[in-house]
Amino acid sequence: MKKIAIIPGDGVGKEVMRAALLILDDLDINFDFTPAMAGHECFEKTGTTIPEETIKIARKSDAALFGAVTTVPGQKSAIITLRKELDLFANLRPVKSYPGTKSIFSDLDFVIVRENTEGLYSGQEEYTPHGAQAQRVITKKASRRICRFAFDYALRNGRKKVTAVHKANVLKKTDGVFKQVFYEVAQEYPDISTEDYYVDATAMYLVTKPQIFDVVVTSNLFGDILSDEGAGLVGGLGMVPSANIGDSNGLFEPVHGSAPDIAGQGISNPSAMLLSTSMMLKYLDEDEYAEKLENALIDVLKEGKYVTPDLGGTSKTMEMAEAVRMKIKDQN
Ligand code: NAI
Ligand code: MG
Repeated sequence: MKKIAIIPGDGVGKEVMRAALLILDDLDINFDFTPAMAGHECFEKTGTTIPEETIKIARKSDAALFGAVTTVPGQKSAIITLRKELDLFANLRPVKSYPGTKSIFSDLDFVIVRENTEGLYSGQEEYTPHGAQAQRVITKKASRRICRFAFDYALRNGRKKVTAVHKANVLKKTDGVFKQVFYEVAQEYPDISTEDYYVDATAMYLVTKPQIFDVVVTSNLFGDILSDEGAGLVGGLGMVPSANIGDSNGLFEPVHGSAPDIAGQGISNPSAMLLSTSMMLKYLDEDEYAEKLENALIDVLKEGKYVTPDLGGTSKTMEMAEAVRMKIKDQN
């Protein structure tokens, strides 16, 4: 039986997790769910935002589903700690247009693969007599690992092209290494076409002709920024899922946070969480259910009858989730 760690967190994290569990409980798969705590409420109860027990549960599970947490400045980030502890080196962010949303483009379907462990987020930052400085760490090992991940992802998902994004004209050494490793790895995948763009040009193309992208692979900070730009293209935070993947663990989470402005009202959009759940099902080799869930959500969005206020409807989170559950049943 597959083991899944359930980490709801704070605010709307808990609401959208309930929606995900409504769906998962109803599938014809036996999962072994283990709840675990993280976030601000957890801090108030236990004195830490991310207890050792939670890390242990996540590590022992086949996959972890994470809602969202409220982060307070000065407190340890639960999600960053989990990514580090489980060595979740790849951050996968699909950018896909769905019907019935405020998507700027209606025909997008690409994926950004962001290196999750080094780059400018190396954690090596210090004050100097003149200000401060941060180290941009790019190793061949991590570059090779993330590029291989991107190409393997392309192969497995019938994608045709991988684009490397960098700034090797200015960051000659760090991004020089990244670009070189990218083309070395590319030789192992003769059926996938390749190209590379500077990050500034990419930022523009994402707005002017985003249809050119298929799989994008890039370093930590560039990936962080470009994937939020991608989210903006397809209807914003309520719609975008993500996966954090390592060699032996996967953690799946909506991109949005705990949304304190709407938390407690039961009106948060469950789509980002349900799409993250669909990604998790795929990771667990339950492709059929992954597709059923995504298709059911698309049907509900298209109909527009049971959707949350941010999508122009009047439904509650769980009403929308229930509509998705019924649409999955319709497909059986
Ligand atoms: P946020 O993503 O929580 O909210 C931004 C805006 O999007 C708000 O207006 C919110 O109502 C809306 N929104 C978010 N999710 C929604 C959903 N499912 N349905 C409908 N509307 C939704 O970002 P914000 O307000 O900057 O941060 C709130 C808290 O969340 C902070 O403590 C922040 O540190 C934390 N955060 C946690 C993340 C995580 O757990 N991975 C990621 C981002 C922020
Ligand atoms: Mg971000």
